[in-house]
Amino acid sequence: MPTDKQWLAFERWGKEHDSEIIHFDLLGNHFIVVNSMDAARELFEKRSAIYSDRPFLPSSTILLGYHWTMPLLPYGDRLRALRKGFHTFLQPTPAKEYRPLEREAVLQLLLNVLHNPEGFMAHLRHMAGAIILGIAYGIKVQPHDDPYVETVEKGLQAAAAVSEPHAQLFDLLPCLVHVPSWFPGVGWKRFAEKNHHWSTDVLEHPYLATKEAMARGTATPSVAATMTTEMESNGEMTPEGEAFVKQLVGNMYVAGADTTVCALENFILAMILYPEVQKKAQAEIDAVVGHDRLPDFSDEKLLPYVGALAKEVLRWRNVTPLGVPHRLTTDDVWKGYFLPENSTVLGNIWAILHDESVYGPDALSFNPDRYVNSDLPDPEIAFGFGRRVCPGQYMARDSIWLAVTLILATMDISKAVDENGEEIEPEQDYASSTVAYPRPFKCSIKPRSNAAAKLVDLETSDKMSG
Ligand code: HEM
Repeated sequence: MPTDKQWLAFERWGKEHDSEIIHFDLLGNHFIVVNSMDAARELFEKRSAIYSDRPFLPSSTILLGYHWTMPLLPYGDRLRALRKGFHTFLQPTPAKEYRPLEREAVLQLLLNVLHNPEGFMAHLRHMAGAIILGIAYGIKVQPHDDPYVETVEKGLQAAAAVSEPHAQLFDLLPCLVHVPSWFPGVGWKRFAEKNHHWSTDVLEHPYLATKEAMARGTATPSVAATMTTEMESNGEMTPEGEAFVKQLVGNMYVAGADTTVCALENFILAMILYPEVQKKAQAEIDAVVGHDRLPDFSDEKLLPYVGALAKEVLRWRNVTPLGVPHRLTTDDVWKGYFLPENSTVLGNIWAILHDESVYGPDALSFNPDRYVNSDLPDPEIAFGFGRRVCPGQYMARDSIWLAVTLILATMDISKAVDENGEEIEPEQDYASSTVAYPRPFKCSIKPRSNAAAKLVDLETSDKMSG
């Protein structure tokens, strides 16, 4: 089994065997990889009744304590109730209500970048944290080094370590969970023991802050506060009711914190590598919005190239190349292939979004024009499949569009320059974990003009004082 960027090997194996799906067996565990859009639609969507469960992954659920997170929950009543909670607050219409909060967080991002361009990766993380902590808990984050943003960052760093082969051993042979951590070969268990507390910290700390704010009467509107008030007035605020609210907002916090960051880091990388795309998008914004104000959602329809660029961000280096594994709950047959019950089924989102028969020979290039006046499918598959499709996608798309548009309107992104004036080629590698973060890279981000910098200052001080 390759341990690095498995989605590339799975795509290659599919081509070598001329098959849309591939099967392999690891220590008696069946794995099926779905490499084509047609197969994904047929299995995950048309046959969703049997392809919507999750495999049991004790490295994350037991050893790190993330058993309460939705991507790891089996399909059942609890999961359906949580998804219903997500839909109430994050379907397209309610998601629009968070746009002012998103704008405030993106403006703070621009201000942070103006003052400290080198720290852009930390600023993006801060922006995504500000949005999700505001929506879920009504927490207004500190302008820098916010403790809740740091907690979720550490928690997710620990969670990402489950993609290491030493951790995956526990998922392939779950009985190893009971072997003492001093035993040779199970050293990863010690790492998990040391990091287990993060899964409780992310669940408890921000929720406690909302509860305290509600008790003081200082809570601002949020999913946690709205649900708590509603449940209290319906007499449903039992210990179970409270555990449900905590789990719902905890899922927003962990799932919303790093996915958007990864997409926006890829956007910055694309702008360095494809300067002509950046110029074209900036020209469109200038023509529609002018230089006296900053763009907003009301401009979205008038900016087709920028819209196409935001779609291409989701496709080009898609955030979760293998999505989240599904589990097949009963034996199945597809196109004459026998698919055994209990198989882990991986949708190779990477292969589907880079399929040359759909995207042409330049499938690996960043080219928004492919989406302009074309009937190419929207890259919605980046958000997964069927009954487990990402319930945060509308909010994520809004935040990505707004950040992309406001950054392009105000900043020029280019290669960083070293002390000899030579351009530095950006690092282009990315991680092999579920969320495929780009490796840290250097770049130069400068205001496009003094007027652009002033607009950012003006709008941020308006917002802060308002
Ligand atoms: C660029 C941003 C994002 C991408 C690319 C993304 C992608 C995905 C994917 C591929 C899945 C797995 C779907 C499947 O199993 O087939 C997923 C699940 C999920 N996402 Fe997202 N996501 C993003 C942002 C968000 C945000 C902002 C939130 C929360 C506010 C969120 C919440 C969730 C949750 C709770 C699940 C688990 C759903 C379940 O297991 O039923 N995601 N996401």
